[in-house]
Amino acid sequence: PHAIWLDADPGHDDALALLLALHSPALRLLGVSSVSGNAAGLSTWHNAAKLLAAFGASAEQVPLLRGCDVPLMRTPKAAPSIHGEDGLGGVKGLPELSSPSVQSHLKRTSDGPAPLALVSHLTSLLRTRVEAGEEPLSIVATGPMTNIALLLRMAPSELLLKGVKQIVLMGGNPGVSGNISPAAEFNFLVDPEAARIVCDSPLPVIMAGLNVTHQAIWTRPLHAQLLSLGASPVRDVVSSAMEFFAAAYASQMGFASGPPVHDFLCVAYLLDASLFAPPTPSAANGQADEEAKRYRVEVQTSEGHNLGATVVAFHDQWPIEHEGWAAGGRNVRVLEHLDTERLWPLLFAAIERAEAR
Ligand code: BDR
Ligand code: CA
Repeated sequence: PHAIWLDADPGHDDALALLLALHSPALRLLGVSSVSGNAAGLSTWHNAAKLLAAFGASAEQVPLLRGCDVPLMRTPKAAPSIHGEDGLGGVKGLPELSSPSVQSHLKRTSDGPAPLALVSHLTSLLRTRVEAGEEPLSIVATGPMTNIALLLRMAPSELLLKGVKQIVLMGGNPGVSGNISPAAEFNFLVDPEAARIVCDSPLPVIMAGLNVTHQAIWTRPLHAQLLSLGASPVRDVVSSAMEFFAAAYASQMGFASGPPVHDFLCVAYLLDASLFAPPTPSAANGQADEEAKRYRVEVQTSEGHNLGATVVAFHDQWPIEHEGWAAGGRNVRVLEHLDTERLWPLLFAAIERAEAR
């Protein structure tokens, strides 16, 4: 199985990403880190622990590490109207915080600050794997990019290049309007400097932004299909999560047919990149026909209406006088297409496997 690390701010759609990461035989989840985003750092950490317990992962198999409670340079912004005050509003069937199974995921302690312990853990994980000749792992980032930016800044770059295959992130809004502001997507707006560091990293970066995640709508027929499977602990968590998420997206965002499952797509990409292949072959941008073409992507970090927005040179329009663009070239693979029909069986199969464990 392909080794992955999940950095998340659970989060209803983060929960779906975690479920898929845990219960797909083709993947091996080496650990999870939490970051402040949809809710405060303490809440997303607790939520990650509750979800790991609910989905049947032990703390030995899948260590949980708490990361940053604040963005690199800004005050935290949460999304209570979409995810509830605690980040997992309306989710039923999760174990209590005080239960032994949840506490086992929270008991890791470190002497120093949590983000430093996280970077040390990831660094030694990468070193051990590289020394043992193991395949490079993929990092999946489904919250604000704070933890991953720190890792990129602090870990030796040679180790990162050898140990990390790619960073698959949910964030940004290539070519479409934002969700948290007219110009920006939530994960990128919350920590735009971190998003910029990640997009500009020398590692391969794959971006699932709103342009593609808004094609993955959890519709009522899908929900009915889930309910028709009958009640069970994992199904109850998923169905109550999606009910709350659907109501929030309907009332706050005007999404009448259902909520987008954003973060889930990052893990789906690792399972089957062909889901994202363009429907008709093309050679746009002078590149071979792959699931995702590389473009120059810039994250806006100056104050104002465009803070956190992604500017994508879809047609290689690089202003020559703009040194950064000319020098940097194409930095991010942008997912653009999705075979939505083939997406959902991945989720149903993961639920079934989680139940059968
Ligand atoms: C992103 O923001 C969060 O609300 C979701 O979990 C997702 O990661 C969508 O913009
Ligand atoms: Ca998220």
